[in-house]
Amino acid sequence: MTRRTKNNTFQFNQVLQGDCREILPTLPARSVDLIFADPPYNLQLRSDLWRPNLTHVEGVQDNWDRFGSFAEYDRFTREWLQGCRHVLKDTGTLWVIGSYHCIFRIGSILQDLGFWILNDVVWIKSNPMPNMRGTRFCNAHETMIWAKKSERQSRYTFHYKALKAANEDLQMRSDWHFPLCTGEERLKDTEGRKAHATQKPEALLYRILRGCTNPGDVVLDPFFGTGTTGAVAERMRRKWVGIERENEYVDLAKRRIARVEMPVVPDEFTPPPLDAPQLRIPFGLLLEHGLLKPGARLQLGHTELEAVVQEDGTVVCGNLRGSIHKVGAQCLGKPSCNGWQHWYYRENLIGEYLPLNTLREVIRRQMEGVLHTATLAAK
Ligand SMILES: C[S@@+](CC[C@H](N)C(=O)[O-])C[C@H]1O[C@@H](n2cnc3c(N)ncnc32)[C@H](O)[C@@H]1O
Repeated sequence: MTRRTKNNTFQFNQVLQGDCREILPTLPARSVDLIFADPPYNLQLRSDLWRPNLTHVEGVQDNWDRFGSFAEYDRFTREWLQGCRHVLKDTGTLWVIGSYHCIFRIGSILQDLGFWILNDVVWIKSNPMPNMRGTRFCNAHETMIWAKKSERQSRYTFHYKALKAANEDLQMRSDWHFPLCTGEERLKDTEGRKAHATQKPEALLYRILRGCTNPGDVVLDPFFGTGTTGAVAERMRRKWVGIERENEYVDLAKRRIARVEMPVVPDEFTPPPLDAPQLRIPFGLLLEHGLLKPGARLQLGHTELEAVVQEDGTVVCGNLRGSIHKVGAQCLGKPSCNGWQHWYYRENLIGEYLPLNTLREVIRRQMEGVLHTATLAAK
């Protein structure tokens, strides 16, 4: 069965119940912008764990985490990763989270399938579970692999500037510190026990979606569990699709997402991303919009050299004629010159010379405003 509609898309914002290895190949190819996968860990727990005070540790002992051998786990991993390749857009990226039990096997298989690792990000747990038996280091982190679809893929979403701006102007690093999911956020059953053994903190997903997607993008999670990915995507106005094998978790996730409060930021207050490519503004646009008039005089930096703006968008300086960049370079005797920075115009309102770039920014803001309004109208 193929879950296609007329326009080759599928229904977003829904949880599909079943095995992701079977469902992923039925979804339309190249339809998803980001995949977050939190697969079974293959923990191989052989006996119960007890705290020193003899209370039981609720570890991952569910059937969904049982595999007969490494070979079986590898086969399983290859199958779901192949399904992910099928649905992921050629501009999309994949995030996989895991512990030392599985992440190295997953990393190797995803490389074999053609994915190209961009980073491994370490989630450092500020409140990890102690090592009860005192026989190993306390296991205080999980690893996330962030990968693009192939080595040659040049386009993918990464809001480098915005991440930096929201991080005290420091580059976002690959070590992330978040507590385990506890307290109010942790879903409980009717008897007050954890509803799911491995519910991830929403903060983790928030950072991933903030850094690697845009509003309206499609986010897919093939191991949906309690629906953390869907809940955060919903809150951040991304479309989402979840796949989960166990009925019980499907219901839990649906109920959770139905309770999500919609964002407080209306569309019209959402500016384009900080690192969106800047709109290219040709010099001629200043004339067309009347910001500069033919005959206007431009000064080259702090030199005595002057050029006169022509009606056709060229400038003339002595016997030189051409673009602001070419004439600027020739006047300065340099191979190239950014005319927007080097030529100054007289701003009559304040009686001062300002770089042409000031006018370019005026036009750019106007044009971006028009484009933004048009995008909103088209939604
Ligand atoms: C590690 S948990 C994911 C937890 C989730 N990230 C959350 O925050 O709640 C893995 C989930 O995958 C589900 N699962 C295991 N094998 C699956 C399969 N083949 N297809 C779909 N879901 C599967 C399990 O039932 C389990 O809920």
